[in-house]
Amino acid sequence: MSIIETEGLSKRYTALRGEGTLAVDRLSVQVEAGQAYGFLGPNGSGKTTTIGMLLGIITPTGGSFRLFGGSSPAELHAARQRIGATLEYPNFYPYLSCRDNLRLVARVKGRDESDVQEALDVVGLATRQKTKFRACSLGMKQRLALAATMIGDPELIILDEPANGLDPAGQREIRGIIRELGRRGKTIFLSSHMLHEVERTCTHVAIIEGGRLVHEGSVEEFTAAGTVAAVGAEGDLETLRLAVADFEGASNARIDDGRILVQLSGRGLSDLNRFLSERGIFVSHLSLERPSLEDAFMELTDGSGGTAGFGEVQ
Ligand SMILES: Nc1ncnc2c1ncn2[C@@H]1O[C@H](COP(=O)(O)OP(=O)(O)OP(=O)(O)O)[C@@H](O)[C@H]1O
Ligand SMILES: [Mg+2]
Repeated sequence: MSIIETEGLSKRYTALRGEGTLAVDRLSVQVEAGQAYGFLGPNGSGKTTTIGMLLGIITPTGGSFRLFGGSSPAELHAARQRIGATLEYPNFYPYLSCRDNLRLVARVKGRDESDVQEALDVVGLATRQKTKFRACSLGMKQRLALAATMIGDPELIILDEPANGLDPAGQREIRGIIRELGRRGKTIFLSSHMLHEVERTCTHVAIIEGGRLVHEGSVEEFTAAGTVAAVGAEGDLETLRLAVADFEGASNARIDDGRILVQLSGRGLSDLNRFLSERGIFVSHLSLERPSLEDAFMELTDGSGGTAGFGEVQ
């Protein structure tokens, strides 16, 4: 049973005039138990809208979804009791302390003080628990939001851009907390527009653009598919490039920094080496380079990197 399963899920925001905005377009994704699932897309690609539909805040205009296998209103209601979630801008009472804000969350969820203490410990706010929310830094607010999702010991945690607006150190802290939640066996659904965030915290990734699914799979698989061989040899680079491009299974052979980079599918480096030596080319350097998620993404989107682009990479 999948924890989250969407089928052709769509949302069109209506406008007074014109067609409105198709924010989510026939989205079909699957999240299995224990995955840390990155929901990756540029600004405006439909991440928050999708999460809003899963949480029951936004009404879909097409398709369907299941949470913990259920899709009827009663089943979805029950399933949502098993979810901890933050939306883009977490809201707390400004005049209450971190601890008291969490106490309120605990009361609403029918939980006790021990949940509050544990959540404060996991996000590293135990020593700052008396700070009023209005006096918290952005990093503390984000950590408090994460703490709130943990209360009630949910099986699924849904996070919408949990590291939004944080500096690199703050982002690293949030990543550490998310990984800790993963170690505790939680299923995590994390939206982000930052490739590096997803690459470092997630086991699986869906890439969306303009509300549509571009790719879904394990992070491992995704970057392996884009594995690149680097080839160096004496002599003219263009001649080498043409020879490499002739190799069966080679694609996108290109000159890069005094060597040839090439995508290989099926056959490996030793075959390529033999192929080149049979043509009288003796390589001085041959290695496999596993690309980052960013490289793989660029490859997938034909180098454009998406319409809005993934500019912010830390
Ligand atoms: N309430 C709304 N009414 C009309 N259009 C909306 C509304 N909310 C979102 N949109 C539009 O739907 C599209 C998807 O927005 P959404 O907020 O889901 O994207 P996102 O991926 O979360 O973006 P970001 O990375 O900026 O948070 C955008 O074109 C946005 O302008
Ligand atoms: Mg959003």
